[in-house]
Amino acid sequence: MLETDRLTGFLGAKISGVDLRSLDDPELGLALRSTLARNSVLVIRDQWLSIEEQKRLTEVFGALMQLPYVAPMAEDPEVIAVLKEAHEKSGGVFGGEWHSDFSFLENPPAGSVLNAVEIPSVGGDTVWSSQSAAFETLPDYLKSFLEGRRAVHVGKPYGVKFAPPAKAQANASIKMSRGDPDADREILHPAVVTDPDTGARALFLNPIYTTRFEDMTEEESRPFLEQIYKHATRPDFSFRHKWRPGDVVIWDNRMTLHYATNDYAGSRRLLYRTTFQRSAPR
Ligand code: SIN
Repeated sequence: MLETDRLTGFLGAKISGVDLRSLDDPELGLALRSTLARNSVLVIRDQWLSIEEQKRLTEVFGALMQLPYVAPMAEDPEVIAVLKEAHEKSGGVFGGEWHSDFSFLENPPAGSVLNAVEIPSVGGDTVWSSQSAAFETLPDYLKSFLEGRRAVHVGKPYGVKFAPPAKAQANASIKMSRGDPDADREILHPAVVTDPDTGARALFLNPIYTTRFEDMTEEESRPFLEQIYKHATRPDFSFRHKWRPGDVVIWDNRMTLHYATNDYAGSRRLLYRTTFQRSAPR
């Protein structure tokens, strides 16, 4: 039903000939969900969705989530404006390290939707990496090490290592709350998760929020995590999207990691992000 072109060997599909503002046909929702399950990232160009239309699209995939710690849009608490103003020249960008969105929640988003509004003429791409390809190609000794193991994820607004100083936050367009004991709480997730629809297995570890493995210290965990991240973020498993205003990208937050490139200082970039929920990762 959907016209799709695969974008790389391991993940990503471009869908054409579809209007995401008309979602009345239940067959279309079904087709979008199964195309996402098979490709992990969907790119649909020239959609120009309003916030309401983006929320309706997100609900095709799962229940809309309201996320803690990052200030949402005042009138739409399920929507985060991923905004960097042209004058915000120093510091990083939101999502500027490999991660899975909000993996430190007990039930992290199953997926996310980005709706591009204003994009720099050059730069500001987003990169995704297939964590099922990464898991399948891990050396056997790392696969056995991870089998049945759980890992600790911690929020500490924007991660433990990367939390920007509070002063740097004050002028940033994306506001994050600090000192929330819930965000500092350790949450355990399986290191390898299984997609309930396809049965695909994927690494569920990321350098922002995963601090260590269960029953291991950070020092003991580090050499394993470093090897795994080096492998999991190899360009072989990745797809890089060059945004245009009007683009919509939907991704599976359990089967992929993503990374926002920080190479457009002096330009404004605005996308709206929504997230959807399903059952907790297994
Ligand atoms: C995110 O991590 O959700 C933001 C990605 C981006 O801005 O490209």
